[in-house]
Amino acid sequence: MSLDGAELTWLGHASFILKTPGGKYIVLDPWLEGNPKCPKEFFGWNKADFILLTHGHFDHMGSAAHLAQLTGAPVISNFEIATYLGTQGITKTVGMNKGGTVEFGDIKITMVYADHSSGITTNAGLIYGGEASGFVVTLENGLSIYDAGDTNVFGDMALIKNLYRPDVALLPIGGHFTMSPKEAAYAVGLLEPKVVIPMHYGTFEALTGSPDALKDLLAGSPTTVAVLDPGQQYR
Ligand code: NI
Ligand code: MN
Repeated sequence: MSLDGAELTWLGHASFILKTPGGKYIVLDPWLEGNPKCPKEFFGWNKADFILLTHGHFDHMGSAAHLAQLTGAPVISNFEIATYLGTQGITKTVGMNKGGTVEFGDIKITMVYADHSSGITTNAGLIYGGEASGFVVTLENGLSIYDAGDTNVFGDMALIKNLYRPDVALLPIGGHFTMSPKEAAYAVGLLEPKVVIPMHYGTFEALTGSPDALKDLLAGSPTTVAVLDPGQQYR
């Protein structure tokens, strides 16, 4: 399946750059410097029109404040993370919650459920970061991309399918902190995307789930497993 003018670049772990058909850059869970899988040429990445954060863990928002300062792009996240970033000098934030949609022209960004935690590590210790979420991004060309964030599989992924018909699903498969391939394969059954792109694996030793295991479990499924290398684009 083609993204019909959109380009999705994986930066390793859970970080993606989504270039929309209209030329906007949506950066999902930016963790660049410090991310062992992020190619060095992206460390200085400086294009963003919107920055989306699924939750407050460092491996998802590690580069968010820097990228927001560099680009002036609004950070879209749950209310608690937006409020926290406000205390860190990031003033352009959109604090929202699950079920909400924000629209920018023909782009729609909907926050959806995730089954995970969201504490923010600070110098003063761990602080409350609201609840973890996923996002469904609907592009100008009508394609919808579901970023599950960090999550276990949950039955209401069937609601996400019914409501948003995701064409592409970005699913964590590493296990330990999230789904492993077994749960992710079940998630694909609930979501029925045309394409699934595995993420959140191999970064740390504990994240042992492999794309090959997911492929094996989905043999015969109508969903294509698209495995990207860090820095590689899906179009
Ligand atoms: Ni997490
Ligand atoms: Mn994570």
